[in-house]
Amino acid sequence: MSQNILVTGGTGYIGSHMVVRLIESGYTPIIFDNFSNSKPAVLDRIEQITGVRPLLVKGDIRNEQELENLFRNHQIDAVINFAGKKAVGESETDPLLYFSYNVEGTIVLLRVMKKFNVKKFVFSSSATVYGDPGYDEFNEETPLAPINNYGLSKWMIEEVLRKLYKAEPDWSIAILRYFNPVGAHESGLIGEDPNGIPNNLMPFISQVAVGKRAHLNVFGNDYPTRDGTGCRDYIHVMDLVEGHLNALDVLSKGPQLLTVNLGTGGSTSVLELIKAFEKASGKKVPYQICPRRAGDKAAYWTNPSLAKTLLGWTAKRDIETMCKDTWNWQSKNPQGYPD
Ligand code: WQD
Repeated sequence: MSQNILVTGGTGYIGSHMVVRLIESGYTPIIFDNFSNSKPAVLDRIEQITGVRPLLVKGDIRNEQELENLFRNHQIDAVINFAGKKAVGESETDPLLYFSYNVEGTIVLLRVMKKFNVKKFVFSSSATVYGDPGYDEFNEETPLAPINNYGLSKWMIEEVLRKLYKAEPDWSIAILRYFNPVGAHESGLIGEDPNGIPNNLMPFISQVAVGKRAHLNVFGNDYPTRDGTGCRDYIHVMDLVEGHLNALDVLSKGPQLLTVNLGTGGSTSVLELIKAFEKASGKKVPYQICPRRAGDKAAYWTNPSLAKTLLGWTAKRDIETMCKDTWNWQSKNPQGYPD
């Protein structure tokens, strides 16, 4: 029998790609989302790709009543929690928003799961929980020291999950720490559709390439890296969600708490990404060098070996594919999803 997987934030960037892969893998996803940073049109696109229109329940993970109704009405086998806020800058100006959505929301969700005896949980964490340890290759033992409220909110939930598992070892929990997710489904029907001016590099580059913005600001070219610009471990969103499928498989073996980084193990500089994107799109990406952005580290990437050992997973898609798929989505949807 197909397992029902509750996907909170399932109409968002990563959540929508997860829903597609879940359907393709024989699961039945149930989306719970309040559309705070997404549009209902995503559902049409998921249906176009998979031939299945996933069930959507509109709601907020901070609303215990809404969640209880959902769990009462649907038998749930596992929960993947993508619902949350994710902009570092905004987390500094509005910390309560971040602690409310991310921390409070996740605690409410866990409480309802416990009430309905659903104890399989996959959590979207982030490399931002590491801060700057003084070296560039992070593994899961790298000390946790978040340097912004977004990272702090992820760390706080991780702590909640560790304490929960210690007290109640019948839970099966996967904490997945993402590096820099980019790219889109190969159909170009779903992808990242940021609100307003993108904070992150890849959506900014693709909006410049499509003519929506005049040029890219490169935040610093005096870092101690190969070309002076910041280096990151970009990971294709399809690889990322496939990592979650492996995590679900591992969790089904029994109670455990696993914590794994999801990245490629490689790194790409800002200038390298611009070049790769120009090649994939055939478009020029004009840029200007600007001062460094506060809080940025020069370079970091993951050591991907634990993901391979614990999940049997490695990222397969390279930077060219990440750029090609981003461009396919952006060029087919220059204004993002329709309203
Ligand atoms: C990448 C590189 C910038 C924009 C953040 C979060 C992380 C995750 C991903 C999660 C850096 C440079 C960027 C621009 C630029 N978010 N840059 N011009 O900062 O590594 O990670 O996003 O949910 O948790 O911390 O990603 O894409 O913002 O930056 O030169 O307009 O591109 O300085 O070197 P970052 P990013």
